[in-house]
Amino acid sequence: MKQGRHHPVTGAGLGLRRALLSPLTSVPEGQIDFMEVAPENWINVGGRLGKQFRAFTERYDFTCHGLSLSLGSPAPLDWQLLGNIKRFMAEHGIRAYSEHLSYCSDDAHLYDLLPIPFTADAVKYVAKRIRQIQDFLEQPLIIEHVSYYAAPQQEMTEAEFLHAVLEEADCLLLLDVNNIYVNSINHGYDADAFLAGIPGERIAYGHIAGHYVEAPDLRVDTHGTEVIDPVWQLLKKAYDQFGVFPTLLERDFNFPETRELLDEVSTVRKYQDSVDQRSDAGDAGRRHAGGHSGPALAVSDMPACDESS
Ligand SMILES: [Fe+2]
Repeated sequence: MKQGRHHPVTGAGLGLRRALLSPLTSVPEGQIDFMEVAPENWINVGGRLGKQFRAFTERYDFTCHGLSLSLGSPAPLDWQLLGNIKRFMAEHGIRAYSEHLSYCSDDAHLYDLLPIPFTADAVKYVAKRIRQIQDFLEQPLIIEHVSYYAAPQQEMTEAEFLHAVLEEADCLLLLDVNNIYVNSINHGYDADAFLAGIPGERIAYGHIAGHYVEAPDLRVDTHGTEVIDPVWQLLKKAYDQFGVFPTLLERDFNFPETRELLDEVSTVRKYQDSVDQRSDAGDAGRRHAGGHSGPALAVSDMPACDESS
């Protein structure tokens, strides 16, 4: 796939979990394009585990996906954690840092990702914190819209809130198509309409995952099963709409045979290739007709995030 200006990595990725260290050690070249880890799980890990992890960061491009920064918390930002993350990224050449647009702490960690109220005050509050983080890390922060089960206060829709935070903070987006699908069912909105409102030029990369069907109108974002077809279709729509962006499969437990995980990663790549081929054919047609072949994705003037800090 072509690398967009805001894309820190390319292709189809797989989240690295401790249980996958051994199974993924012998995966042949070309099966996985990039990986992602929660930095909190790996900072200061040494010994045999640390060596195993180092072998992965030397072999693959990586992103960090934080768990506990708690962007929306009333508590002060955890500068010690951010300092540790900055060092960790430099040590392993990790290309980007993403976090959840949520909160998980006040005075103590709540160990869950809770939705920030969709209010104008919350936009200002969280955007200011994101700008501070970006200044400290010297690179864009990538925020992920989360799955949520209760909406505490809504002056605006989730899509309006997300859009406002991205603009006010001038940061990048991690687009999780499974989260869109799960939320669309749990909160009764149209997934396609949500996707249509996404500022595509801010997408850094994407997630795809499986979820648990608790009831016809209740899905739980577990990352514990295979991706279902409507979620694959939403990913395809996102590629059609925004151009191809790097996309990573999240699988957190109930791990199948490695072959099945790699098959899902290759399905991501198949969708990416099909859209790339169509766009190449379109570019060739335009060139043949004497027209301009512009970039696959719209871009803004934000700094590229392909440097490791
Ligand atoms: Fe995600």
